Amino acid sequence: MTKKIVALGGDGIGPEVVDAAIQVLESMNLDLEILKPLCGEAAIKKFGTPFPKEAMDLTNQSDAILFGATEQASVIILAYLRWVLDTYANLRPIKYYEGVSTPIKDPEGIDFLIVRENSEGMYPGREGDISLLAEKLPDYKDLMGKSFADFGKGKFAIRIITEKGCKRIAKAACEKARERKKRGFSGKVTCVTKSNVLRESCGLFQKTCEEVIKGYPELRYEHFYVDDMARRIVRFPKDIDVIVTSNMFGDILSDLAGELMGGLGMAPSACIGDRYAYFEPVHGSAPDIAGKGVANPTATILSSVMMLEYLGMREKAEELENAVKAVYEEGKVLTPDMGGKSKTRNVTKAIIQKLK
Ligand code: IPM
Ligand code: MN
Repeated sequence: MTKKIVALGGDGIGPEVVDAAIQVLESMNLDLEILKPLCGEAAIKKFGTPFPKEAMDLTNQSDAILFGATEQASVIILAYLRWVLDTYANLRPIKYYEGVSTPIKDPEGIDFLIVRENSEGMYPGREGDISLLAEKLPDYKDLMGKSFADFGKGKFAIRIITEKGCKRIAKAACEKARERKKRGFSGKVTCVTKSNVLRESCGLFQKTCEEVIKGYPELRYEHFYVDDMARRIVRFPKDIDVIVTSNMFGDILSDLAGELMGGLGMAPSACIGDRYAYFEPVHGSAPDIAGKGVANPTATILSSVMMLEYLGMREKAEELENAVKAVYEEGKVLTPDMGGKSKTRNVTKAIIQKLK
């Protein structure tokens, strides 16, 4: 059955890199119908909204969604894809390809996966004036015995961690680690929290991960605090197999880890829910280079590799990943972020040529 893909470019370089990925997918003659409704900055000009009804309707009927990036305009698209469609498992593989420019001395063999909780935590942002908390929770005292009324004027932010959210993300991470172990990886889940300070919310996250992993006797488990983990990602990247963490920690660690594989121009991601899935580069709308045709399309093309895998087209996914690999191994056609002078379309063309 033909799979329906909805491509939403979004803002900044989003439309350029999504176009590049579409060209690559179209050159592969797959059983895909790729729909490209207008959205983002372009749609605001025409319809007065970044996410017109047509785009939303198509999104709702899709088998998978390819998304570019958001600056300001398309934040509501990202919000819809993540929190309305409930794509709670954000998978961010960190894999080094030979020939890629990285600040790491010995990057050969870096290959791990960050599983970021994508539906709660500090997102989508629940904030307000402290005075509101002082009024609603007059008896609340923190560990130091301070109540909200004791603060001066200021703002608060609330972090939500639910049992359901913890359970499903821990399970997603364990399933991925199991899958990877079958492919020869070490079979280890590293839970990352700040439970020494956030004893309740991070405590629940950590405890749930410890419980869920008991159902996977073939996997090993470890836990590190997020500050320690940041250091370990840089120092011992090859010791990592699967990281599972809450939303904001995963956001920050995935930008850091992305650098090991060449940065945001290279790092792909998938956001998977029970019914919907969308695929996007780890991010950056890169407004400074938008419209110049020099953005690296690889992160979005590798996100399409993840999309093909999700759609059950494993062989095709592998073919496409190998084409990307071949272009970097050769090292002739590189965008400026990789130390080259090529344009987005040259890299796209080079990848398409390797597919033939
Ligand atoms: C990401 C991005 C988003 C996030 C922004 C654009 C809201 O940084 O996908 O990592 O914070 O999750
Ligand atoms: Mn981010």
